[in-house]
Amino acid sequence: MRRFEDKVAFVTGAAHGIGRATVLRLAAEGAAVGAGDVDAGGAASVVTEVVQAGGSAVALDCDITDTGSVEAAVAATVAQYGRLDVLANVAGHNLGGLEGAEPTEEQWGRQYDFTFTGAVRCIRASLPHLVESRGSAVLVGSISAEIALGTPPYAAAKAALANLVRNLASDHGPKGVRFNVVAPATVATDRFIGNEALLEELKVIYPLGRVGKAEDVAAAIAFLASDDASWITGITLPVEGGLTSATGHLLNLL
Ligand SMILES: NC(=O)c1ccc[n+]([C@@H]2O[C@H](COP(=O)([O-])OP(=O)(O)OC[C@H]3O[C@@H](n4cnc5c(N)ncnc54)[C@H](O)[C@@H]3O)[C@@H](O)[C@H]2O)c1
Repeated sequence: MRRFEDKVAFVTGAAHGIGRATVLRLAAEGAAVGAGDVDAGGAASVVTEVVQAGGSAVALDCDITDTGSVEAAVAATVAQYGRLDVLANVAGHNLGGLEGAEPTEEQWGRQYDFTFTGAVRCIRASLPHLVESRGSAVLVGSISAEIALGTPPYAAAKAALANLVRNLASDHGPKGVRFNVVAPATVATDRFIGNEALLEELKVIYPLGRVGKAEDVAAAIAFLASDDASWITGITLPVEGGLTSATGHLLNLL
């Protein structure tokens, strides 16, 4: 399947986890990829992997909390490849540091700036190019937006993304641009380094019997970004192993 032949994508959080898997998936399907991350070494390493597999990608310094950095990374992608068809904003994880305490106003603000405004920065920088290409944006949300899992600042900031894509879908649909969210539950990424036992314990709450892989989420991102989803916009797609349907499954465990 090469759904992104002659297409160009920009991915944030590209060095590790879901972002890395997304770069590899889009590139394997033919996209040239701008791989943006604050971890320059990690971004360079995923680009090397893409190039070794015969694809095309460029590593870019990109901090989604910094408007200038996002604008420069999107501009560099377009300068390198001449267009932009897909934005995948993957960066935006739980900043944590709460350890059961009430979040301070500063913590609420910092998480919102990273998770929500970070996505807005990426969209603002990409939008003129997506209008030109009649392209598509996919934002990574979280199942925490639907159920109480994760911290309130993180969950609320992720929840705001669902409303954002609905409004943008309505505003920019007539120009041919689509906006969607994928909402993963537990995915085994670097987030859980040193906490592998927790991943093992969490398996039981998933009807499908396992936690997610970064590739599971990358596949959903690629679907929503592709023409296979050309009549899908403004939605949040849960990628969650059945977790939100699991009440019966959980009762059976008691
Ligand atoms: N792993 C999960 O269980 C899970 C569950 C639900 C949602 N998510 C969401 O998936 C996304 C990716 O999570 P992951 O588990 O792959 O994380 P990860 O820690 O494996 O990777 C995160 C990447 O983002 C980069 N990054 C950090 N700050 C950045 C910034 N300011 N600008 C640009 N890049 C930055 C990191 O360098 C890293 O490469 C996040 O938005 C997260 O909220 C993850």
